[in-house]
Amino acid sequence: MNAQTTAAAPGVDARQIEQAAAILRSGGVVAFPTETVYGLGADARNEAAVRRVFAIKGRPADHPLIVHLAAAEWLDDWARAAPDAARRLARAFWPGPLTLVLERAAHVLDAVTGGQDSVALRVPDHPLALALIRAAGPLVAPSANRFGRVSPTTAEHVRAELGDAVDLILDGGPCPVGVESTVLSLISDTPTLLRPGAVTPAQIAAILGRPVDLRGGGVRAPGTLAAHYAPTTPLELLPPSAVPARATALLEQGLRVAVMGFAETTRRLPAGVQRWVMPDQVQDFARQLYAALRELDAAGCDVILVEAPPATAEWLVIQDRLRRAAAAFDRAGWDRP
Ligand code: TXA
Ligand code: MG
Repeated sequence: MNAQTTAAAPGVDARQIEQAAAILRSGGVVAFPTETVYGLGADARNEAAVRRVFAIKGRPADHPLIVHLAAAEWLDDWARAAPDAARRLARAFWPGPLTLVLERAAHVLDAVTGGQDSVALRVPDHPLALALIRAAGPLVAPSANRFGRVSPTTAEHVRAELGDAVDLILDGGPCPVGVESTVLSLISDTPTLLRPGAVTPAQIAAILGRPVDLRGGGVRAPGTLAAHYAPTTPLELLPPSAVPARATALLEQGLRVAVMGFAETTRRLPAGVQRWVMPDQVQDFARQLYAALRELDAAGCDVILVEAPPATAEWLVIQDRLRRAAAAFDRAGWDRP
């Protein structure tokens, strides 16, 4: 192997990676693609750089960040006494959309963990992300959006929302998964789901040979706030049968209405409604969800009605994100006409 082939993977521009890594090594902030969503990356060992990430996002300082590693072998540099369960899950799902919360190694910055004794770790499954981390070292990377808003799944989303606030945006095209990683805590004896994601509790339970506690909670973390992932247009989550009547009632009051739903429901809508038809396979739905919310948000409507996804385990991650998006308006008190 020559030097060039060790640096680059297919679709990765080695010079661009080196430029981005140089920015990160000097304390800069670089947005980069992962398989889930775009991340706002900074050197996980540089406190000033980590603080800049919080400032750009407008994120409260006590909300912890995920440290992104290039390989499972790096785990012991960041976690103290990682349990066997962590190694088995890493072997099964890394690189991939699973974040493990473990006891932190002594050197891990309070700025990264929000002052907690734990640290969240994952190895992203994206050639650009992996090349960047190999070149620059472990990176903190929250989703590259302002606090509480919809996560970006394209470089254009990042540019539109954060633009000049970041030093560089690496464009890796649309993210193939489209929703954030599953967050699983291995701090107590019972593996506990803190945030649903593409890796399902059933997949985790199958590797560990025991069930996952789905209740989560109790941990300060942004993804676990009731209101999150929200567009700026008020959003209502409704059962399928209620969508057409609600759309009609709002239209009659002179409001501009958008509906995001499955084909069957969007066919039953009154004229004058902006329709956004979502796929009926969960992976396809996840890949398109945030781009759809952004487009509907930009469509100039007064309200977005969203058809609730099926109430099955398979759809857990979608139920979670849509419930949080709607909760933002329950709390802010959108005046339901
Ligand atoms: O898919 C993802 O995870 C994306 C991409 C960029 O990797 N990143 C992401 O980061 O979603 P962020 O900061 O938006 O969400 C981090 C989540 C928090 O919601 C929280 O639940 C969890 O990670 N987390 C981080 N550190 C933790 C800790 N020490 N204890 C418990 N949860 C933690
Ligand atoms: Mg986020």
